[in-house]
Amino acid sequence: MRRSTVIGTGFYVPPDIWTNEDMAKLMDTSDEWIQERTGIKQRHIAEEGIGCADLAKVAAEQAIADAGMTNQDIDMIIFATLIPDVFFPGSACVLQSKMPFGTIPALDIRQQCTGFIYAMAIADRFIRTGWCDNILVVGSEVHSAGLDFTTRGRDVAVLFGDGAGAVVMVSTENENEGVLDFTLHAEGEHYDKLLIPAPYGYVRGRITHEMIDNAEHYPKMDGRAVFRHAVPRFCECISEVLEKTGYSIEDVDLFIPHQANDRITNMVGERMGLPAEKVVSNIASYGNTTAATIPICICESRQDGRLKKDSLLLLAAFGSGFTWASLLMRWSI
Ligand code: UT7
Repeated sequence: MRRSTVIGTGFYVPPDIWTNEDMAKLMDTSDEWIQERTGIKQRHIAEEGIGCADLAKVAAEQAIADAGMTNQDIDMIIFATLIPDVFFPGSACVLQSKMPFGTIPALDIRQQCTGFIYAMAIADRFIRTGWCDNILVVGSEVHSAGLDFTTRGRDVAVLFGDGAGAVVMVSTENENEGVLDFTLHAEGEHYDKLLIPAPYGYVRGRITHEMIDNAEHYPKMDGRAVFRHAVPRFCECISEVLEKTGYSIEDVDLFIPHQANDRITNMVGERMGLPAEKVVSNIASYGNTTAATIPICICESRQDGRLKKDSLLLLAAFGSGFTWASLLMRWSI
């Protein structure tokens, strides 16, 4: 039976690093508060003028080369981001303007922290049905372009970092590799618990001076509500994908959770009975890079040898929307 698998990966983070001490120079915060509450020590920040398609290009080039392919082999781009380069069109099209891909379809996914799993799931279904053979799946964010780096925005600004990751998903007939199954969920009644309100789609002109004075173009988050929902939703969707595929938690070789907070990661790992060595955490180095987090973790896990051919890899994420998702796959490279 035709299924999909990953044969190439890549990631890129901009070279500038802002430590917690650097953040404390901009706002009333401290290294101690940030590390204790989140586990974050530093984040990478893109220079002004760099957008998410720029970061994505570097990650995509690596992933395509790693797959032993050229751009011409790719027959669809799926791009997950919450900070598109422009209001429209999507950043998949902006990426096409930077890399020659011909006229292949270019699709944006706006599922925030869950975006990369939604994107992989969509790629899997396009491949399984035979509509595509080789799909470039990218997650990229330049959060720093839209964070409030003053004390007013400190509850959100310290959490996020910039970066990009990409995978190439291809068709395979081998039943012992690739995506086994996934779960996708959303509960839109909580859409206003983590959002950027402006620009508005229902206000003439979309943005006013008053909205800017009220900082409505910056992210707003009810951090406690997000935290409260995150842990049980992570656990539910992990159990669901294991049940769907007939595996148990003991079978999982590596768990890559979305990196929003080390406390969430640790609670989920403990509740699911996963030993710490099977749970990936890189939030200390990057902060929350939203749609880029999972592919960055995948690349680093390959580099440090924790993710290898035949590993049973579990992915899960929760974030704005609220949305949450999980995916189980047999890693094939
Ligand atoms: O990827 C999905 C999206 N995001 C998440 O999953 C985030 C989920 N939530 C969280 O990770 C946590 O709720 C946070 C890390 C955001 C906050 O941690 P918390 O333990 O829930 O803190 P809090 O929001 O209850 O704030 C505690 C105190 C407040 O002061 P008072 O009211 O107790 O005097 C805040 O004003 O900490 C203050 N505070 C800060 N202090 C120093 C908020 N941000 C900061 C800061 N530095 N950056």
